[in-house]
Amino acid sequence: MLSEIGGLSVTSQKSVLLIIGGGIAAYKCLELIRLLSKAGIKTRAILTKAAEQFVTPLSVAALIGEKVYTDLFSLTDEAEMGHIQLSRSTDLVVVAPATADLMAKMASGLATDLATTALLATDKPVMIAPAMNVRMWGHPATQRNLAQLKKDGVKVIGPDEGDMACGEYGPGRLSEPDAIAAKIIDFLKGTGNKPLTGKKMLVTAGPTHEPIDPVRYIANRSSGKQGYAIAEALAALGADVTLISGPTQLDVPGGVKRIDVESASDMLAATTLALPVDGAIFAAAVADWRVANSSDQKVKKKDGALPDLTLAENPDILATVSQLKSGRPELVVGFAAETQNIIENGSSKLVRKGCDWIVANDVSPDTGTFGGDRNSVHLITNDGVDSWPSQSKAEVSSQLAKQISEYFQGR
Ligand code: CTP
Repeated sequence: MLSEIGGLSVTSQKSVLLIIGGGIAAYKCLELIRLLSKAGIKTRAILTKAAEQFVTPLSVAALIGEKVYTDLFSLTDEAEMGHIQLSRSTDLVVVAPATADLMAKMASGLATDLATTALLATDKPVMIAPAMNVRMWGHPATQRNLAQLKKDGVKVIGPDEGDMACGEYGPGRLSEPDAIAAKIIDFLKGTGNKPLTGKKMLVTAGPTHEPIDPVRYIANRSSGKQGYAIAEALAALGADVTLISGPTQLDVPGGVKRIDVESASDMLAATTLALPVDGAIFAAAVADWRVANSSDQKVKKKDGALPDLTLAENPDILATVSQLKSGRPELVVGFAAETQNIIENGSSKLVRKGCDWIVANDVSPDTGTFGGDRNSVHLITNDGVDSWPSQSKAEVSSQLAKQISEYFQGR
């Protein structure tokens, strides 16, 4: 909700051109417009013909307080505001829901209606929030179009994974309006104000894979989503971000330099190489143990005998960096993934590892945090504990990035 990200509200009036595509999720745009207007952002809207089947121009117009544009060849529109001006007199163009059809047209540069013409004519940044059936999303054509759009500099929000209106389950749901609003607000704030410009930040993310042999490994369920979102939020505030990532399915956020690693030892080596930095955020779910007697050859089954695996403790990357005698980053932030006594365990980790802040979160299975899109965290510092409301991982990241930028501004 925007009240939870109220601290991010935009002060000087910014504007968004919202292109509403024809998908069942189009109704969520009404809530998105409400959240943007609450943050002081002016919205203009274009509805595609298909979108009009799901949401009426009248309801959108009532919320934005001005007429909605639908027709490329309307003479009054052209007299009042042509499609070129419409696409340029804005700070950001947002397409939500971005249907498979709209994405395909954008990727090929087609201009067959007002929405696609405005998208081709704009000289402003473009964000899309895709929403479609899971199979349409996974289709090679859509994935090809997505890759092309990213190459063209289009920013992509979501889609989320979950139950779909068509009864199927998987990725393809439109991101929630509060998460889309948070990304838009962050971006618009960033366009005028990049408080972390000139600051070097390092973020670790994802799981680590500890090899047993060339084909098997020990791993954990971390998706990497929180760490990636933090890297993106820091970059949006102007930081020069290096993301050291264990194996994930995620795309590298725009403006972030990613270094891929597999094991905890690789992650420590890459982290050490990336120093010095001003701030380091350790969001990776590093495996606590590795197989000390891992094999260079595939371990074969022998008459039912079980392999004799010996575990050894992995280096603690957060503690190593926190306790550096020279070259320690000015701000070191760790995560504490806990299933019980969250604040107590998080506070003792702050002391034990020697970091400056701990973001403690509840990863009990019923919270859905691990692999999910939401997170409920407590920020523990030497000054006390600040418990944040449950919010999307994007919102947690924005709030953390904002707090980090305030820390550096206050120095
Ligand atoms: N961490 C790390 N290197 C490790 C283990 C953890 O850098 N080998 C970091 C994590 O990235 C996180 C913090 O330490 O920022 C705490 O991780 P967590 O898994 O919660 O704690 P552990 O140290 O593994 O302790 P435990 O498993 O006992 O809770």
